[in-house]
Amino acid sequence: MEKLKIAVIGCGTIANAQHLPSYTANPKAELVSVCDIIPERADAAKEKYGAKKAVYDYHDVLNDPEVQAVSICVHNYMHAPMAIDFLKAGKDVLCEKPAAVTYDLVCDMKAAADANDRILNIGVVNRFNSNVNRVRDIIQSGELGELYQIYCSFRAHRSIPGLGGQSTRKETAGGGVLIDWGVHYLDLIFYCIGEVRLKTVTGATHSVLGKDMPGYTYESMWAGPPDYAGVYNVEEYVTGMVRTTGPVITLNGAWAQNIGEDATFIEFMGSKGGVKLTYGGDFILYSTDRGCLTATQYKGQCVNMFAHEIDCFIDAVNEHKKIRSNVDQVLITAQVMQGLYDSAETGHEISY
Ligand SMILES: NC(=O)c1ccc[n+]([C@@H]2O[C@H](COP(=O)([O-])OP(=O)(O)OC[C@H]3O[C@@H](n4cnc5c(N)ncnc54)[C@H](O)[C@@H]3O)[C@@H](O)[C@H]2O)c1
Repeated sequence: MEKLKIAVIGCGTIANAQHLPSYTANPKAELVSVCDIIPERADAAKEKYGAKKAVYDYHDVLNDPEVQAVSICVHNYMHAPMAIDFLKAGKDVLCEKPAAVTYDLVCDMKAAADANDRILNIGVVNRFNSNVNRVRDIIQSGELGELYQIYCSFRAHRSIPGLGGQSTRKETAGGGVLIDWGVHYLDLIFYCIGEVRLKTVTGATHSVLGKDMPGYTYESMWAGPPDYAGVYNVEEYVTGMVRTTGPVITLNGAWAQNIGEDATFIEFMGSKGGVKLTYGGDFILYSTDRGCLTATQYKGQCVNMFAHEIDCFIDAVNEHKKIRSNVDQVLITAQVMQGLYDSAETGHEISY
């Protein structure tokens, strides 16, 4: 079989940590082109991963007939325009999360994929996590009974990324902790519970601890050093409630909050049992047996979810089929995030 000819757009953190090594390791793929507006980054990726070409303008990839599929690993606000350009140029696309900075743009991306009969997958990598799939199987088998409530917490003590940089600017990131971390939690929840429709969304956001930028004391500044001359106009804290035709979802998320220890988990509560899944880790199944309360700890072996996600993208393109990370599957998460932001801004609940 011919190898799938790949280009990676944006040679920064996630590209070097996951996309470039995963394509290089997959015998069904050939890394043809790497692209970054910072020439040294593209050149370094070409050298390290043995790509044929390094280019500094993504239009050169658009116009390259050799490239069949691309990974988009640039910042959030460029996802939609780039993905749409590549889809129109006949390339299949794996775009990093969040799909786009607004719900409407995600719908535009889906429309471009459909109109051009191309595959558009989004980097919803938790769908490729073994423990998430175990929890999904438990829920889908009915073992928890009627699922009526889900709570998720994606909260850190002091962990605003690159204060003042592209992650804390609404114009480039689209939002703060919700669009950056919450997107993973919401997607994981909708994946596990299966198809539901939205009824209402209500949310509130705050930006407090990082407001006095030079005065912000932190544990982690994981997306680069602070830029005190930069902009901080996104939320560092979000809370919300989502009513669906299935369970109610409540959430608390914070890049920074005075809580001491980080709290990153999801609780699925059903009439017969419940699951507490530690984000990125193991899970406990709470139930009853012979009149006793049980708590079973599952410590699962896990595949490398990023490599698995990329392997599945390659197969999806080769077989031209929609899989679990297709853009169709992430519309509901984009809609909930939009609803939470709109509700926070207007002070009103959003109904569907
Ligand atoms: N799935 C995950 O868990 C995960 C983890 C980290 C990041 N991400 C996502 O990946 C994306 C990139 O994040 P990152 O941390 O790698 O950012 P980064 O800043 O480290 O890398 C982005 C790269 O894109 C390049 N770039 C910018 N504009 C470009 C353009 N027009 N053409 C070509 N290259 C361009 C930059 O020079 C930079 O090298 C973000 O959307 C982020 O949300 C996802």
